[in-house]
Amino acid sequence: MTTLKAVRGTRDLLPPETALWNRIEANARAVFARYNFGEIRTPVFEDTALFARGVGEETDIVSKEMYTWLDGERFDKAAMMDTWRRQHLGEFDDILQTGPASSDPFDLACTDKARDYTEIAIFSTQSDAVVLRALAEAVSKAQASSRQFTGYGKTIVGRLVTPSPIPGTSEARTEDGILLERIHGNFHKSSQSLTLRPENTAGVVRAYIENKLGDGGQLQKLYYIGPQFRRERPQKGRYRQFSQIGAEVIGPPSSGSESPIRDAEVLEMLATLLDELGITDWTLHLNSVGSQADRARYNETLRAALIPVVGQMCVDCQRRAVTNPLRVLDCKVPADQPIIDALPVIADSLDEASKAHFAAVLAALDASGVPYTRNHRLVRGLDYYTRTTFEFTHGGLGAQNALLGGGRYDGLSEAIGGPKAPGIGFAMGEDRLVLTLQALEAAQLELKGDAFIAPLGEGINLPALALAKELRAAGLRIELGEGSFRLKKSFEAADKAARAIVILGEDELQSGILTVKTFSTGVQTKVPRAQLAAFLAEPPQE
Ligand code: HAM
Repeated sequence: MTTLKAVRGTRDLLPPETALWNRIEANARAVFARYNFGEIRTPVFEDTALFARGVGEETDIVSKEMYTWLDGERFDKAAMMDTWRRQHLGEFDDILQTGPASSDPFDLACTDKARDYTEIAIFSTQSDAVVLRALAEAVSKAQASSRQFTGYGKTIVGRLVTPSPIPGTSEARTEDGILLERIHGNFHKSSQSLTLRPENTAGVVRAYIENKLGDGGQLQKLYYIGPQFRRERPQKGRYRQFSQIGAEVIGPPSSGSESPIRDAEVLEMLATLLDELGITDWTLHLNSVGSQADRARYNETLRAALIPVVGQMCVDCQRRAVTNPLRVLDCKVPADQPIIDALPVIADSLDEASKAHFAAVLAALDASGVPYTRNHRLVRGLDYYTRTTFEFTHGGLGAQNALLGGGRYDGLSEAIGGPKAPGIGFAMGEDRLVLTLQALEAAQLELKGDAFIAPLGEGINLPALALAKELRAAGLRIELGEGSFRLKKSFEAADKAARAIVILGEDELQSGILTVKTFSTGVQTKVPRAQLAAFLAEPPQE
């Protein structure tokens, strides 16, 4: 038997890695609590229309990546039999259809008197051994029975009809002489189209509307942790089931939900959370995509600007230039980059209100000391964004370097039938946080000291201790040896622990000139004590 495996793009999380997941989640919950966020848990699947209307039908997520199915699907046998009858009407003199109360083990009996021929047919969703056996039994029963088939043909053949998703019909015969026919059509009645959530903002806003969270006039600050599903091409940092840690700030305009201070506060919280997790060298990319009207205007500006240059661009860009010019900005093809960099920027298409809002966000970030990089190309792939959009990236992640993304969505509530409720939020890819921390921790383990101090003789232990203190005070990572070690042993220990060894004996103490050997180059250098810290901080490369 073939062994069953986790589905492509999904994976098991095992100890000890799960401890890291728990640590990240605990850290996130603690930071969210300090900013007065409460947890929301929404269902993992929702009505497909929520994502079509909320995230946008034209987005990659909705048009290509969703796991969608018809729920409460029922096989509509009557519809399939009607279709079949219409197709085969001329072939038989008589088609007898069994009624719902009939005990006949088949659905139709059709006779062609001229040929003395009868077919009995079963209509089923699939052809499996059970149905085939039932049909074979029905045929032998019919052959044995004179009651049902008196006056009908002597030859009795079984026919199994199943639905086919592709146009046309096909017919084959089993070894037992049963006809297998597939007919095209959708013979299912469905109650609802459902989708595994590809993201959680639409679900949170749906819950906000449904539970009337805006009625009290308060700002709602909600966070969530949980799985999301996208049918993307799996690679490192990109999975089909992945986990997001996200938060949304939403409320009626009177609650201050539109204020640029909300944007700055959310970004400051993210900076704090990443720092507390130990991910310090992140970059915050920031942009404003303006109002829906600003964005539409920019789209037209881009469309016009692309006309003279698009012929030199990749095929994807050529398509996007027509269908959705904004997506040209996401292109990663190196040759297209100078062309894209020269295109008009969205900042110039913003109306006065959007410009003022963005300027206030930047001023608040400056005031709270959160560093950012303005990125005119950050337009994000979901339709609900308005005004502020952002991403935090980390170099250690490679191609999938977005740790998190988010922005404002001032019209989303109305788009899914709710009251005016501006909001801003983000989602962090938890899988990517884990990868980043694992890489940082591995680097930490490999990190060697700047120097190993080797005292020559036990009498030098105390001066060596003083030298170590002096160098550590200068910010260096210092490993201290032991005067009783033979020089060879000191060298071996130093090679494992540090990038360089500093030899300290009586002569060095007297002269104030120390011998330093840098392991990567093998070069031995005489360095005056006063310059030692600077030398060790940046040893010569050759
Ligand atoms: P998003 O940019 O589509 O935004 O996703 C946010 C983050 O989820 C990404 O930056 C990435 O870290 C992670 N992520 C996305 N797809 C995958 C994947 N296939 N595998 C692993 N990680 C992935 C949203 O989802 C918005 N709902 C964010 C938001 C909240 N905007 C406003 N509020």
